[in-house]
Amino acid sequence: MHFATRPLPLDCVTVTQHRNMASQKKVFRAEEVKSHKDSKSTWLIIHNQVYDVTKFLDEHPGGEEVLLEQAGGDSTEAFEDVGHSTDARDLMKDYLIGDLHPDDQSSKNYQANTGPLGREQKTR
Ligand code: HEM
Repeated sequence: MHFATRPLPLDCVTVTQHRNMASQKKVFRAEEVKSHKDSKSTWLIIHNQVYDVTKFLDEHPGGEEVLLEQAGGDSTEAFEDVGHSTDARDLMKDYLIGDLHPDDQSSKNYQANTGPLGREQKTR
């Protein structure tokens, strides 16, 4: 039939590609993360997940300095010590690039701290 041979509209192709990218979860070794430790390429490990924050350096409300100090390593403790909001945690997803390899994962269990006095966790 005539319509069956029509190419897909461009938008459809783009949407499919995005979906494929999102479903391909990568696994990184700590050794590899270590080499992304400056403003040219800034990776962080937070809760055993790997984030590429290179493009976020300029936008981070806490400044780029603190991110660069942690770059290439595990910044879970620093991240939780600050007490990041739930908004900040939502934003993180934009920079997630994969998981840390199981052999390199930290077994420390950090409690998510969403701010002073746990203001966003209070239910009553
Ligand atoms: C992908 C990772 C990160 C994201 C998306 C992120 C996002 C944010 C956001 C949105 C804020 C504003 C306050 C809030 O909403 O909680 C903030 C503040 C801040 N962040 Fe981050 N952050 C990240 C990683 C880190 C790390 C690893 C550190 C390490 C020390 C850090 C230190 C700070 C500091 C010091 C502030 C300022 C707090 C204040 O002035 O009250 N952040 N961050």
